Amino acid sequence: MKGGGAIRSGGGGGGGLMRTRLRLPVVLLSCSLFFLAGFLGSLLFTQDPQGEEDVERPLRRERLMEAVWPEMAYGESGEPAPSLIPYQILSWQPRALYFPQFATAEQCENVVKTAKARLRPSTLALRKGESEETTKGIRTSSGTFLSAEEDPTGALAEIETKIAKATMMPRSHGEPFNVLRYEIGQKYASHYDAFDPAQYGPQKSQRVASFLLYLTDVEEGGETMFPYENGDNMNIGYDYEQCIGLKVKPRKGDGLLFYSLMVNGTIDPTSLHGSCPVIKGEKWVATKWIRDKTV
Ligand SMILES: *[C@@H]1O[C@H](CO)[C@@H](O)[C@H](O)[C@H]1NC(C)=O
Repeated sequence: MKGGGAIRSGGGGGGGLMRTRLRLPVVLLSCSLFFLAGFLGSLLFTQDPQGEEDVERPLRRERLMEAVWPEMAYGESGEPAPSLIPYQILSWQPRALYFPQFATAEQCENVVKTAKARLRPSTLALRKGESEETTKGIRTSSGTFLSAEEDPTGALAEIETKIAKATMMPRSHGEPFNVLRYEIGQKYASHYDAFDPAQYGPQKSQRVASFLLYLTDVEEGGETMFPYENGDNMNIGYDYEQCIGLKVKPRKGDGLLFYSLMVNGTIDPTSLHGSCPVIKGEKWVATKWIRDKTV
């Protein structure tokens, strides 16, 4: 802005003084000089503000995609244009995908705000022969179940819609969000999200996949760990409290999706996972369990 303004006022003054004597080549030359200066000035200006560029980037990408893929016919429940949800495959065993910047900072903060008022100590689904007393210490976080409608900020509804879009598993198959807070030392020992009927009795439906949305950064610790990644550590007499294997560091707004079932529907033994103890800071995470039948 500053550069462009200075050039324009200088040019106007010069033109007024020499109006009578100007010849065509001089006019042409000065015109091109003004154009060049303006162009360079505008380049400087557009590269200047860092924040503005970040906001505009997704929009530019979508425009690019419109150009690459001309309009495609789509069904009644479809979407008019392609969109991008970037992801990285972390592992095939278990099938685990990482979604950088899945939610905005504001969405994360809103979910934490809504959940904070309702926190209770987390509980466990008990296996045959287990009691609350015998399972004490396995899961030490606090948490609450929240359906999207219970979040007045609307953030959970937006996140739920995006999870359904990313997984192509409809919202109706998701359990309410389980929003958890882990304070220093708190953890969740390794476990499966799917329920083996041999251990838990007959099930009406089964958990297919889990989507974890990290709502805060954690200074140290608090990783989501998969101790059996790629079949490792399965015959070492693994201690379920131990934090080993593939570890995913929580980053505010990032998502982690993994499948508890293999493609043929049996429980994937490598989907065993846990939450390492928080060493420094506080970990907030929203979990969405997705089932093979509507909830
Ligand atoms: C399902 O697939 C896994 C891995 O390919 C295999 O080990 C298992 O035997 C299969 N289970 C059934 C019931 O087909």
